[in-house]
Amino acid sequence: KKGGYPHYMIKEIYEQPLALKSTFEGLISDETIIEAADLISKKDKIFIAAAGTSYHAGLVTKYFIEKITGRAVYTFISSEYKNIEYLVDNDTAIIVISQSGETIDTIKAMRSSKNRGGVIFAITNVIGSTIGREANYVVPMRAGPEIGVAATKTFLTQVLVGSMLAVNLGKSIGKINETEYNQMINTLSYSPNIVGSSISMTEGIMKKLPERFSSKNSIYFLGRGLGVPLAYEAALKMKEITYIHAEAYPAGESKHGPIALIEKDFPVFFVVTKDTYEEIASNIAEMNARDAYTIALASEEKLENLQPRLTITVPKVDLLLEPYSLIPPIQLLSYYTAVVRGLDPDKPRNLAKTVTVE
Ligand code: M6R
Repeated sequence: KKGGYPHYMIKEIYEQPLALKSTFEGLISDETIIEAADLISKKDKIFIAAAGTSYHAGLVTKYFIEKITGRAVYTFISSEYKNIEYLVDNDTAIIVISQSGETIDTIKAMRSSKNRGGVIFAITNVIGSTIGREANYVVPMRAGPEIGVAATKTFLTQVLVGSMLAVNLGKSIGKINETEYNQMINTLSYSPNIVGSSISMTEGIMKKLPERFSSKNSIYFLGRGLGVPLAYEAALKMKEITYIHAEAYPAGESKHGPIALIEKDFPVFFVVTKDTYEEIASNIAEMNARDAYTIALASEEKLENLQPRLTITVPKVDLLLEPYSLIPPIQLLSYYTAVVRGLDPDKPRNLAKTVTVE
């Protein structure tokens, strides 16, 4: 069943190029995403509600929609939704993101928005799920079944759907022209290849690295811009399957408190995306000065300015493709760390694949 792999998690990490290919081909095979974008573009407010990894995909989606369309997007953690549900009216588009389509907190956010006249756009892997059935529009992820409790291929497929939505919204709103639109879609068609090259470039080091800090009590993941949600996802993955305390912050925020914990060899990962090199370089220097074990995940571009203690090189790609180059090593890191610690990454304690209780 695991196709020769020791765990579902690693199998599903390796399945990502295939999953993304099927997501992409599905998205361009019909008009669903174009129609969804047209409708969302006519609404005054755009909200996103999701939980866990799906929430992080929501933050990436927000980043690209805002960058491409210039329109503000408000993201909410599903379980906090009842505190803001009064903001929803019939001029609100709510994008709910849920792999299973059965997360109770996200179902509740969806239902309360619907009752207030909001229009629901669901991104889900299970179209026959509660969310798939009750949403006004459904954009399927087509990732195939995910068995491992840790979300891997479903994260990147959600990110691809969110990015395709952002590009289509850009066109509906008139922020990008036909040529720019075609270029961006063409760029996203390379997401499966980028995941493949990222895995082959980083797998060797990611197998060895966990030995160095599998006994650590704490790890930080820091990033800026698009790197922030990717860092959040890295910390969640690490906590979930290795039980090592992992926190993520916007790198600039680390000076406002978290840096107090830094001592010799405290591991600090920097998720370095485009246009953040200069500022990240100074954050790395601050951590180096306190003897942290700094590790930068970055493409070769301007790497010499960063000066971390260790660099993990990922493929150099367009901004739209950065999640596909930066996320695979992060997934491999938590997977191999769990293995080194003698844990079963497929069955983390206290967690269920689908959370159906509040
Ligand atoms: O099925 P959903 O996408 O709604 O699930 C949301 C979270 O429970 C889920 O992403 C969880 O955080 C994962 N186990 C993370 O790997």
